[in-house]
Amino acid sequence: MRGPPLKDQVALILGAQWGDEGKGKWIDMLAPSCDMVVRFQGGDNAGHTLFIEGKKHVLHLLPSGIFQKDMTCVLAAGMVINPNRLLAELSELKPVQDVGPGKLWISARSQIITPWHIHLDKLKEKEQAIGTTKRGIGPTYTDKVARSGLRMSHFIHESKRQAWVESMKTQPGFAENLEEQAEEWQTFHEAARLVAPFVRDTEHEVRKAIAAGRSVLFEGAQGSLLDIDHGTYPYVTSSSTIAGGAITSIGMAPKAIQRVIGVTKAYATRVGAGPFPTEEDGPIGQELARKGKEFGATTKRPRRCGWLDLVALKYAVEVNGCDELILNKLDILSEFDEIKVATAYQHPTLGKIEQFPSDGDTLQECKPVYATLSGWDEDLSQITDKNQLPEAVWVYVRFIEEFVQCPVSMLGNGPERGHAIPLIEESTPQPIAQSLREKAQRGAIRGSESASSAP
Ligand code: IMP
Repeated sequence: MRGPPLKDQVALILGAQWGDEGKGKWIDMLAPSCDMVVRFQGGDNAGHTLFIEGKKHVLHLLPSGIFQKDMTCVLAAGMVINPNRLLAELSELKPVQDVGPGKLWISARSQIITPWHIHLDKLKEKEQAIGTTKRGIGPTYTDKVARSGLRMSHFIHESKRQAWVESMKTQPGFAENLEEQAEEWQTFHEAARLVAPFVRDTEHEVRKAIAAGRSVLFEGAQGSLLDIDHGTYPYVTSSSTIAGGAITSIGMAPKAIQRVIGVTKAYATRVGAGPFPTEEDGPIGQELARKGKEFGATTKRPRRCGWLDLVALKYAVEVNGCDELILNKLDILSEFDEIKVATAYQHPTLGKIEQFPSDGDTLQECKPVYATLSGWDEDLSQITDKNQLPEAVWVYVRFIEEFVQCPVSMLGNGPERGHAIPLIEESTPQPIAQSLREKAQRGAIRGSESASSAP
């Protein structure tokens, strides 16, 4: 199934939680109406799972538009790229999709993840674990900002690459690493020749495409709450995952992006350590994990699960300027008697908090204040039309929209391309609207004590 055509020429889709919102499927669905899909940050720490004709594909570096014919896919300047993993991903994909330099363009400005950076990431995790993917992401961005990184344009240039290796020998442990991981370093050097044909000034090409009126979709990886500045620092990734990250990655006018689409699950998950106020570590969390198959696409780690946090979602909507939300994996919530959503936090000394705290420690100390909504028993996975949705689903969706002040444009009700229920530009069907009004009058949506004023 094709997604609805994008109404705007330049759009951006990103995660509105801690990653793993299921962005890949939506990018793949929206991509047919675009000429170009651009990944703008992160590296192979991402894991975008797509189910195409029943077959599972996990992409780590390649944009999720890669399966579309006549589509240019771009890895832009803000990315960190492990050349060995890029080549492995391309060769894994070969039986399904032969990706050549005509289809995939890689930024000459992107930074290279080397075996050294992966080694440092693992070492740091031993000293101070935050639960990274151990893919070398943090140390590569560290070197970039310290101006000692290896840029793609130098990587593919033999003598410049060797000069970088020489310059790094002053760093304690680097020379030893060259010996200890000699095999990895050898494949690393060999990869340069194979990656070179894909490399271009992609930022110039993207700006040119936009100016020529071509349709461009920017693809975010990870999630807004993992953003280096605006996420739950230090339990974050090392890149700008929010909408603004696309602007700096390409070097383009902020107004170039006409539409920002946030993807959220109908509940919440997180991998790795860090604050997660609505986490359910008992049977509810286990049930969400089982039904939602919540295991990391990159690390296979079980994900922490809990209820949807509307304080955090509202924050993500604001930080990104979301024009619409896609509410994904709604089918997983079937058969819960009641469904909770956090509408505020209770802090031991600060009292009730309605704004997402800037400090991770404060968030860690917060308990969620919940509103409780009725569940539904119906299996949503076969529904294709919004008119078939149970009333309780409408209550849930409208509650979210009203709280975060952003419309929900699509519902996700299963892993396949076709599992999507569009709500775009359509109002709640009349009989359901009437029934919702009655429900609200009867007080059928309960707030916990301090959340009784929730919308
Ligand atoms: P790093 O990006 O490997 O440095 O990991 C930093 C944090 O971001 C850890 O908590 C990871 O679990 C998390 N993280 C990184 N990439 C993803 C992703 O694609 N989905 C969800 N979490 C991620």
